[in-house]
Amino acid sequence: MKVLVATEKPFAAKAVNAIKQEIEGAGHQLVLLEKYTEKQQLLDAVKDADAMIVRSDKVTPDVIDAAKNLKIIVRAGAGFDSIDIAYAKEKNIVVENTPGQNSNAVAELVFGMLVAAVRNFYNGKSGSELMGKKLGILAYGNVGRNVARIAKGFGMDIYAYDAFCPASAIEADGVHAVANQDELFKQCDIVSLHIPATPETKQSINYTVVNQMPKGGIVVNTARKEVINEAELIKLLGEREDLKYVTDIKPDAEAEFQKFEGRFFTTPKKMGAQTAEANFNAGLAAAKQINAFFKDGCTKFQVNK
Ligand code: 3PG
Repeated sequence: MKVLVATEKPFAAKAVNAIKQEIEGAGHQLVLLEKYTEKQQLLDAVKDADAMIVRSDKVTPDVIDAAKNLKIIVRAGAGFDSIDIAYAKEKNIVVENTPGQNSNAVAELVFGMLVAAVRNFYNGKSGSELMGKKLGILAYGNVGRNVARIAKGFGMDIYAYDAFCPASAIEADGVHAVANQDELFKQCDIVSLHIPATPETKQSINYTVVNQMPKGGIVVNTARKEVINEAELIKLLGEREDLKYVTDIKPDAEAEFQKFEGRFFTTPKKMGAQTAEANFNAGLAAAKQINAFFKDGCTKFQVNK
């Protein structure tokens, strides 16, 4: 079988080696398409691939149509909003993700950005500390749980809301469960977003939601840019000079956000999962899942059942 690794944002070399060993060890062939800049390169590369490993690369119907032999796509990571899973299903292609494999990396970056934000991005002025601050975690999945774990070390007061996770499971971790999203924004000094981009969540973080935050509120977004209503957040940042927005996903309206100097920060590329460890864990898990699929028909992590 031919396994294509198609990563516009490549894995670390250590991860690529591990993927190669795993795939070739099972008797398959590995083909690499890294740092591609044109969609045509992807369309050409998938032509004879039986399996594909991607990161947040866009797998749209034209990519699927070009891949006549494709049987499985594994998204090395959590969010699969970049893949047309329904169309893949129509074409009998299994889509899987690798949940949990990169979550610590994303969670650590939350705190990297938060420390910078509360210290005024090291501009020389006195800042504040995270200890004792109320942290709200919106969606208590793999990343949310890692954020809670690290927040305990900072001595933060931790709250969470997850529409799909019972309050008892949140409380069991020593985290306060709140009744709904509004409560989280009302009560917390900092809200960290970990919701996926779905029809329900897209644009859901808007003016009204964020305006409920107490004075000095910070929104940190390592989830997806699509969950933010950018126009409304820009309007709110313009009206409330106490608020900050930090993210590792460059907003579409980046230039508008950059006007809020000292209150807005973005990494140039999505950096949350960009560590050697996360690349290794997610990449290797993806390779193992592909091998298990071809060997035993295993589809444990299928997201388009
Ligand atoms: C994920 O969904 O796993 C993260 O957003 C990481 O995405 P990336 O692999 O594109 O960095």
